[in-house]
Amino acid sequence: MLAVISLIVMLNVGAGLGELLPLIENVVCPADSANVSACIIEAVETIKEPLITGDYGDGVKGIVLDPYVINKLEVNRGPSFKASLKNVLITGVRNFQIEKLRTDLRKKKFSVAVTFPDLVVRGQYKLEMNLVLLKLTGNGPFNLTDDPLLKVNLEFYTDKKNVVFTRPVHVDIEFAHPQLYLGNLFNGDPKLEAIGNQAINDNPNILLNELKPELERHFEGSFYQIASTITKGATADELFPGY
Ligand SMILES: *[C@@H]1O[C@H](CO)[C@@H](O)[C@H](O)[C@H]1NC(C)=O
Ligand SMILES: *[C@@H]1O[C@H](CO)[C@@H](O)[C@H](O)[C@H]1NC(C)=O
Repeated sequence: MLAVISLIVMLNVGAGLGELLPLIENVVCPADSANVSACIIEAVETIKEPLITGDYGDGVKGIVLDPYVINKLEVNRGPSFKASLKNVLITGVRNFQIEKLRTDLRKKKFSVAVTFPDLVVRGQYKLEMNLVLLKLTGNGPFNLTDDPLLKVNLEFYTDKKNVVFTRPVHVDIEFAHPQLYLGNLFNGDPKLEAIGNQAINDNPNILLNELKPELERHFEGSFYQIASTITKGATADELFPGY
């Protein structure tokens, strides 16, 4: 995601900088360079800090990415699955690694695959779930560690004045080696809690796949907001010179 945001930044070759954020002005990556994707990946490091902290300069603030906060997330699929997460904090985002980056300047389309080698998610959960023969219920603290892969597609369009706007962002999460811990499962009976957590971690994707669409929607909203904030008021010539 960071790569996608910053590549917008990189592709600016310095024309008509008046409207652009200092964040963008500071990084230049010629669109006619031999390998635009490689250039962008390299340059992401230089603007990583403002992207992570959400402090883009000139008093422009955006969403903080580490820790990334989800105040509330709810999934209700009826009696077989109900979950709500609250006060969720995701840390370790800053250690992201860009695995792959694809750019289509003419279509103003970008896709990036990013891994997060040591992500830790902590928060409060409430759960009712049928898992094989178990009926899991619980309400308490949880944590999740993983090194997931995020695939992000970002696309822009322009209006009559050639001003750039962000299209809805598409995010796909692939969990890799998720480890979950749900505290106070079955009201804290220690034996049942251990059995329940064992059952969940035997195949964590059963639970995580139920949460995934809502998580993806949350990230999509945040990335859309970040991309819109960073590109606000810029024209296509400024952001994608030579497109
Ligand atoms: C461009 O750079 C990317 C990222 O480093 C690399 O995967 C790709 O092979 C490079 N492409 C060419 C044509 O050199
Ligand atoms: C998750 O919670 C369990 C139980 O409180 C704890 O033992 C474990 O260290 C926690 N893991 C992380 C990454 O916080």
